[in-house]
Amino acid sequence: MAYAAFRSIGAYTPEKILTNEDLSKMVDTTDEWITKRTGIKERHIAADDEFTSDLGTKAAAIALERSGVAKEDIDMVITATISPDYFCMPSTATVISTKLGLKNVTAFDISAACTGFVYILSIAKAFIESGMKKNVLIIGAEKLSAITDYTDRGTCILFGDGAGAAVISATDDKSEAIIDVHTGADGEYADLLMTPNGGSGSAHDALEQEAGSCFMQMKGNETFKVAVRTLTKDVKDILAVNDIKSEDIVHFVPHQANYRIIKAVGDALKLKSEQIIVTVAKYGNTSGASIPMAINDVYEAGNLKAGELMLLDAFGGGLTWGSALVPFAPLKK
Ligand code: ACO
Repeated sequence: MAYAAFRSIGAYTPEKILTNEDLSKMVDTTDEWITKRTGIKERHIAADDEFTSDLGTKAAAIALERSGVAKEDIDMVITATISPDYFCMPSTATVISTKLGLKNVTAFDISAACTGFVYILSIAKAFIESGMKKNVLIIGAEKLSAITDYTDRGTCILFGDGAGAAVISATDDKSEAIIDVHTGADGEYADLLMTPNGGSGSAHDALEQEAGSCFMQMKGNETFKVAVRTLTKDVKDILAVNDIKSEDIVHFVPHQANYRIIKAVGDALKLKSEQIIVTVAKYGNTSGASIPMAINDVYEAGNLKAGELMLLDAFGGGLTWGSALVPFAPLKK
């Protein structure tokens, strides 16, 4: 059986920065409130003519180049996004494949909100282990500013734009292999986080009446509590099933939604602060892009070495959740 190895990471953030100070001129909020409740200081916002696929293409090009895998050898592209270029078709993954000049690939998107990157990691792993694919490019890309209501202070302070990507490749060497990926979902909590209109589930007249109803809506306080509970349980489960202790984790990379959520989960797992990756201050919540963007920050700081074990943990709309135990495994030279 082939194993799946996490070969490389890349990320891209658009140039424009929206600070808490900027937001305080748009809605009734303050830098102090946002910082205290979320840990977020600023987020990046894509230009009007810059789409999710543009962000994803730039991140993917970096991941590809760093992987050492030839373009021609990529046989699958999966994008996790809740802000695709086009809601129905074509998929953002096909647009990105074309922008990268990839031929002969299987390409599709998945929708699992902030858990998207963990979901596509599990799909890549399954395709590689089954022998159906050899080199899978996975991309979390979001232009959340396109689905954010900038008159709603409860949500607009949270979200930002960006993309992160990774190359997952087949290997015979078990020591390089992604150890495990867990994913789950529960639609009972669907109303905590949703874009209520814009799909086939919404009446067209309701759309016309409610301007802006394709934007994200969130019950923040309830989401917060479910997030802490679910993320903690999920991580405890994956560590126990694989008989791995929390002290063996070199980098705990949680979804970057809110510093208080990350801190609560880190405390519950008794993790040391140097194990916990926190980038939420710089980027806000970039949904499916947040985990690969955070891994990329660690890599670019020179702090991600071959063989180091990462624990990924995510939670998002759906509800969805997932965790993964992933050694960093760049191609040996
Ligand atoms: N500025 C100032 N005051 C505000 C703001 C703001 N931006 N937003 C809300 N408030 C007010 C509220 O109106 C409320 O006022 P009241 O007491 O007079 O009624 C008060 O602040 C407290 O509001 P809460 O909603 O209880 O604030 P909370 O401490 O829960 O923080 C937050 C809100 C930051 C949204 C938090 O609940 C959170 O981070 N939730 C989780 C979000 C998340 O993790 N999402 C994950 C997935 S996202 C995805 O899948 C796309």
